Amino acid sequence: MREEDFIFKNPENKILDSSFVKVKSPSNIALVKYWGKSEPQIPKNASISFTLNNCFTSTILEYTKKENASKKPNIKVIFEGKEKEEFKPKIEKFFERITKYVPFISDYDYIIKTENSFPHSSGIASSASGMSALALGIMSLEKKLNAGISEEYFLSKSSFLSRLGSGSAARSIEGPLIVWGRHPKIENSSDLYGTVFPFKIHPIFENYQDTILLVDQGEKQISSTVGHNLMHKHPFAENRFTQANENLEKLTEVLIDGDIKKFIQIVESEALALHAMMMTSNPYFILMKPNTLKIINKIWDFRKRTNSNICFTLDAGANVHVLFPNREKKEADLFISNELISFCQNNKYICDSLGEGAEIVI
Ligand code: PMV
Repeated sequence: MREEDFIFKNPENKILDSSFVKVKSPSNIALVKYWGKSEPQIPKNASISFTLNNCFTSTILEYTKKENASKKPNIKVIFEGKEKEEFKPKIEKFFERITKYVPFISDYDYIIKTENSFPHSSGIASSASGMSALALGIMSLEKKLNAGISEEYFLSKSSFLSRLGSGSAARSIEGPLIVWGRHPKIENSSDLYGTVFPFKIHPIFENYQDTILLVDQGEKQISSTVGHNLMHKHPFAENRFTQANENLEKLTEVLIDGDIKKFIQIVESEALALHAMMMTSNPYFILMKPNTLKIINKIWDFRKRTNSNICFTLDAGANVHVLFPNREKKEADLFISNELISFCQNNKYICDSLGEGAEIVI
């Protein structure tokens, strides 16, 4: 689908009665990372992620017909029961960005009640789950106005709108494995929205586990927006984009044939490549903490000592995502609780696994 295909057409010019919709949308963890973009949120390379299950945002979008049609929508944001003025600018900007595609949003005022299943200051980025939940809520309004849209269009446009809120949010609408960014080996892949990995996944990756070790629950020192922008003049940028696209091609084969050793090698290398880009930006920065490295070394040591297929990946932060096949859960859980939890802030961690994506609750 092309960008123009996402512009809303409402032959009846219907306006809905005031009501609400409730949705939930998960976070995702990239295996091949997206780092670097051009306007409007077009990724410099293709990426692929696991959709998560237990880390999600629930959002109630209440919409009321506006008194004065010419005015901007009035938006009130309530996060975990408290009004949050500071969340408004990001959401208002998102609404401005998407109005071209969903002009009907200008007919209403909104109260957005939102909460995360994971602790707010856990260092887990809530932008993917939060923005995709909001996009799905808006798409559910579109469906009320035009019930004739296909399921495929609904999902693609939900991802398309999510992307305009936060790039990685494009990968949260569906699951369990989503590709975002055009790649010659993935048919129908697009820079504009995420698509489901189109091949049959080897059984070893079914119900794959992700235990998130919360190493640093503070605010990030560098936002991902700043980080992405630093890729513009980055000396290694072009090689990095080529590397990511090559890794996606290799990982595609691995996901089909189940070569878990190669999976580990690609996924860990991707995590370190992402952080290497941060460390070689100008200005440079480091998001890993001493305990991030301690955990990585423990994982490497455990793999050497045992036959384990446990591995790690990192997001734009200090937390470590520990990935392992479901069939190794018993040994992995034991290793994590005996040897890794002590490196987490307040011993906190979250057990997650592959999920199927966002849903409309009511
Ligand atoms: O969606 P953004 O703009 O917050 O970028 C997130 C990028 C990473 O999480 C670091 C990598 C990825 O592909 O999700």
